[in-house]
Amino acid sequence: MAENPRPKTPADLPAAEPTATRPADEWWRSAVIYQIYPRSFADGNGDGMGDMSGITERLDALAELGVDAVWLSPFYRSPQRDGGYDVADYCDVDPIFGTLGDFDRMRERAHGFGLKVIVDLVPNHTSSEHEWFQQALASPEGSPERARYIFRDGKGKNGDVPPNNWESVFGGAAWTRTVNADGTPGQWYLHLFDSSQPDLDWNNPEVHAEFVRILRFWLDRGVDGFRVDVAHGLVKADGLPDFEKPLTGGSMGGAGVPLTPEIEGAAEPELPSTPYWAQEGVHEIYREWRRVLDEYEGDRILVAEAWVDPLTKLADWVRPDEMHQAFNFVYLETPWEGPALRRVIRDSLDAFGGVGAPSTWVLSNHDVVRHASRLALTAENPQGAGIGPNSEGKPIPEVGIRRARAASLLMLALPGSAYVYQGEDLGLPEVIDLPDEARQDPTWYRTGGERYGRDGCRVPIPWEAAAPAYGFSHTGESWLPQPEEWAELARDVQTGTPGSTLELYRAALRLRREHGLGIGRLEELDGYPDDVVAVRIGDVTVIANTGETPIELPAGELLLSSEPVGEAALAPDTTIWLRLQD
Ligand code: GLC
Repeated sequence: MAENPRPKTPADLPAAEPTATRPADEWWRSAVIYQIYPRSFADGNGDGMGDMSGITERLDALAELGVDAVWLSPFYRSPQRDGGYDVADYCDVDPIFGTLGDFDRMRERAHGFGLKVIVDLVPNHTSSEHEWFQQALASPEGSPERARYIFRDGKGKNGDVPPNNWESVFGGAAWTRTVNADGTPGQWYLHLFDSSQPDLDWNNPEVHAEFVRILRFWLDRGVDGFRVDVAHGLVKADGLPDFEKPLTGGSMGGAGVPLTPEIEGAAEPELPSTPYWAQEGVHEIYREWRRVLDEYEGDRILVAEAWVDPLTKLADWVRPDEMHQAFNFVYLETPWEGPALRRVIRDSLDAFGGVGAPSTWVLSNHDVVRHASRLALTAENPQGAGIGPNSEGKPIPEVGIRRARAASLLMLALPGSAYVYQGEDLGLPEVIDLPDEARQDPTWYRTGGERYGRDGCRVPIPWEAAAPAYGFSHTGESWLPQPEEWAELARDVQTGTPGSTLELYRAALRLRREHGLGIGRLEELDGYPDDVVAVRIGDVTVIANTGETPIELPAGELLLSSEPVGEAALAPDTTIWLRLQD
């Protein structure tokens, strides 16, 4: 069948009649939320590091894109040993990002555009430079200062064996030994992540009180919600028992059980029981926080970063008296295959719907290989280990971008709330060939370069093709080098360009709103080949062809497609939105 020479673009398409509007309240049930990674979004002062004034200046682009909210990864005072997820002061902006006043200006401007503002909360651990940890180190064993963290004596004759066998997610032991004031070896402290990120002890009421104070600080400053970091990790099993199946590769998701949807028809997997993930006690913390949020005017929300499998278990995080949303990482980790996608969509809507919460959908973030590369890997997805020059099974770029566009168009049609990571709207791939000396992820250092880590998805994004650092920074500085090929992906090149990924996202967000897709009811359609996902949401039919052969299309009005479509055929790795003929 003949194919059109170029993709349909919004300009080609008739404007759709609005069929539904968003409810005035509970905006989060259908919101599209854009993740800003502040270090890499826009640099206002030219030092090569993104900052608050850079964000403020560029918010108009996000308003134009048509998202509902922004979520900012941490910008608090921090030694930046883990990109700001090592917080030294939760109630101040790090000077590399600006000041609290700069934050207020950013928030005000975002609200002026009608964008909600979500900030990141990191409650599992502080930075080792946090005042509390410094006090703990300076205080004796058994002191109240130490009781805010998890200090334990070592095992073995001289206490030189770590208190248990837990491993850091970033590689190596999850314990580091302290040195006493007199130079003798001291107690050990727990850090599920880097040694610069000591875990707090959530059995301690003082820790609870402090985080309620932090929540109120930001709520009073007008934020619309919090993305809660490692929301499955705060509480550890009593007695800190050894982990019977110790993780070797480092994992956020439990006992080495991959967070992928189960095979159709197979029994639910046995729940992994990891003594530091998904412990029952975490839920009481979120109930406490929910009560605080509910005191505030407006719809303020909590979003869980919880790598929990299966979805029915994850749904516990969003019961009516807990959080509002949880990232759907099972969806993120689903391969580009019809049966797996159908299954995860169904399971997500059932599991979250079962507790009255919206599902979320997400394909990329600052911790995973960008989906324009991940979906075209020819080896297993390395998750947080990242990909680099010596990785096996590098992605095939043409396949990657094509699948990414198709996957995004499917995701943006689904009912619930969708997350878009900065740069995916430009079709950015993972940067694979960063020089070793440029890498900053603790994963890289803690594994002696065995795992590349996450720098490849954190490279500063391109705004203007012809500007220094592609407009990221007026001086041309950039904390990670940007690839030459990114000139042609710059936002200005894609703006108004028919068929560009940016225009695809814009059209999708406009149509999503006009047709009320985010608040729609999804119905699966039968009669399509196994590798096709075909669903109807309201008056929009969405068909994604993950297979290798073109499929016949039903007659209807084309609303949007991720690639040019033939007369009546949908090519492989393509998604289409249609209004079917009655
Ligand atoms: C979360 C963050 C990640 C960080 C880790 C430790 O997973 O998304 O970037 O390294 O927590 O705070």
